[in-house]
Amino acid sequence: MIVIVGGGICGLGIGWRLAQAGREVTVIDRGEAAMAATWAAAGMLAPQAEAEHAEEALLPLAMESCRLWQSFAHELQRCSGIDVDYRTEGTLVVATDRDEFELLEHRFTYLRDLGLNLQWLSGYEARQKEPYLSRGVSGALFSPEDHQVDNRLVGSALKASYIKAGGQLREHTSVDEILTRSGRVTGVRVGDQEIEAEAVVIAAGAWSRNIAGLPPEASPPVRPLKGQMVAVQMSKRAPILDHVLWGPGNSIVPSIYLAPKSDGRLIIGATVEEMGFDTSLTAGGMLELLRSAWEILPGIYDLPLVESWAGLRPASRDDAPILGPTGVDGLVMATGHHRNGILLAPITADTVSDYILTGTVADIMRPFLLDRFDKSLSAVAQFALREQKPATEIATEKV
Ligand code: GLY
Repeated sequence: MIVIVGGGICGLGIGWRLAQAGREVTVIDRGEAAMAATWAAAGMLAPQAEAEHAEEALLPLAMESCRLWQSFAHELQRCSGIDVDYRTEGTLVVATDRDEFELLEHRFTYLRDLGLNLQWLSGYEARQKEPYLSRGVSGALFSPEDHQVDNRLVGSALKASYIKAGGQLREHTSVDEILTRSGRVTGVRVGDQEIEAEAVVIAAGAWSRNIAGLPPEASPPVRPLKGQMVAVQMSKRAPILDHVLWGPGNSIVPSIYLAPKSDGRLIIGATVEEMGFDTSLTAGGMLELLRSAWEILPGIYDLPLVESWAGLRPASRDDAPILGPTGVDGLVMATGHHRNGILLAPITADTVSDYILTGTVADIMRPFLLDRFDKSLSAVAQFALREQKPATEIATEKV
């Protein structure tokens, strides 16, 4: 038996692959499966437009997962009968004022030097692609290979596919303890029931860190990072946006994005807030989202507001996912996906399930093992030694 703690897109994806391989799998979710970060996301698959300086190590993983998405989406549709709205129009990143224009030009050079397939567009050329863009848009980056899905449909399709493949799903059930003996995992405790397992996967998103029984050295440094979102309703037959659109933001919404779905919803996100597990909506959050979105796509002004919500990204200490084996035999990580959970789901499902089935750590997964944080702690310890201070004073972790 393999137990997966957390029924989000990554937990279900891994479970699906394991069930397809004929293994006995149980996914346990504290709420309803695929209804936390998977549901709250915007469904963007944008490794190129979202590539950040100093995150180059993540790029190969993100690019490979993006490549896998097309067949993943088709397979999900085939298995579940649910069309997950995989859209390939591509992504536009626009600049409005002079500073933004220069920043975007700089970003274009950086991304092009990484060998990414991006095109520079003038404001006029950008408006040829999206006629409702603001007249203030002076330049844009076009990323034709950055696609999107409807993450909520993916959640439903994945849940159905997993169950159809023979996976067991226990919802509204908390894992009260991870059970270990002599450095190896033996199962989990749910209430007074002990479930024996040869492997336990921690895929509990923002809740991954504090599960009782996790040995301290195998506790993933993951914290919740709040994102408020809002959706307006476009006409389904005449939407005002076809591409995913990114634009400049501010300190609460570092960059604004708008993701049009085929049912006419236009998802606008997102704030980035260190607020623990708080998911309340604020007037300021809504104001910043709507104002930033309106500045690049003024036509949203007249559209009905249909939904607002907040989700919790599982952010790791270095913003990269934590995947694969740990120092505890049989305890496996699939967490810390930060802003990239939907994008990284197919590669997470493949590499983590492959590790469980064969014991192989894929090269592409190797930079994302939990033990990388030991290395950074020992770097802190080395620094402490040089500075003649206790390491505890220096290792002021964010999480
Ligand atoms: N990936 C979108 C977000 O984190 O807001």
